[in-house]
Amino acid sequence: MKFFADTADTDAIKELAEAGLIDGVTTNPSLIHKAGRDFLEVTKEICALVDGPVSAEVVAADHAEMLREAEVLRRIADNVCIKVPLTIEGLKTCRALTGEGTMVNVTLCFSANQALLAAKAGATFVSPFLGRHDDNGFDGLDLIRDIRLIYDNYGFATEILAASIRHGIHVLECARIGADVMTAPPAVIMGLAKHVLTDKGIEAFTADWAATGQAIIAPVAHDPSAGSG
Ligand code: G3P
Repeated sequence: MKFFADTADTDAIKELAEAGLIDGVTTNPSLIHKAGRDFLEVTKEICALVDGPVSAEVVAADHAEMLREAEVLRRIADNVCIKVPLTIEGLKTCRALTGEGTMVNVTLCFSANQALLAAKAGATFVSPFLGRHDDNGFDGLDLIRDIRLIYDNYGFATEILAASIRHGIHVLECARIGADVMTAPPAVIMGLAKHVLTDKGIEAFTADWAATGQAIIAPVAHDPSAGSG
């Protein structure tokens, strides 16, 4: 399963990329607002930090205007993926852009039928919002399961990008179901490394190692005859 970072925080993206943990980035207008940065500038910076797709979202409601915005966004870098909402206007835009070879992420997907439309419109990715689904009393994981089943039934190439991921269980279950990608806030991705037994193990090994009195790297002996300058 590919991991995307759901953020416009470039420091967090750098840290995740350095650890080899991310294959792409997703942003949305709320995340751009949170970052407090110029949209085009920060998107360009993010595109240089990762090799994979970087989702940048259009904000217009009609197809013609979405296409005009997409034109500006896709000039930022080759790895920009245009994010469009799951509306008929968004789907028209998706079809036009993927037809020209541009990656498209169809976002705000809340039903399997919507995901079916995204696939028919040729979307590169469809983003079902798992956490927001759960928040509203639906089972977000069931949604991912249904989309997986339908896409596999017909061999659709659209990748399922599980979004609105809130915790490690979401990540684990998406991996079990076979979501192609999951996008999560950096804290959720970093949190996957945490385990109480790992911490306890490190604590015990550190104490036992100190008790041996040994050092892997021999301490450099201080030469008093060497001048300080
Ligand atoms: O990028 C879209 C999605 O991941 C948003 O998540 O937590 O705002 O529901 P959230």
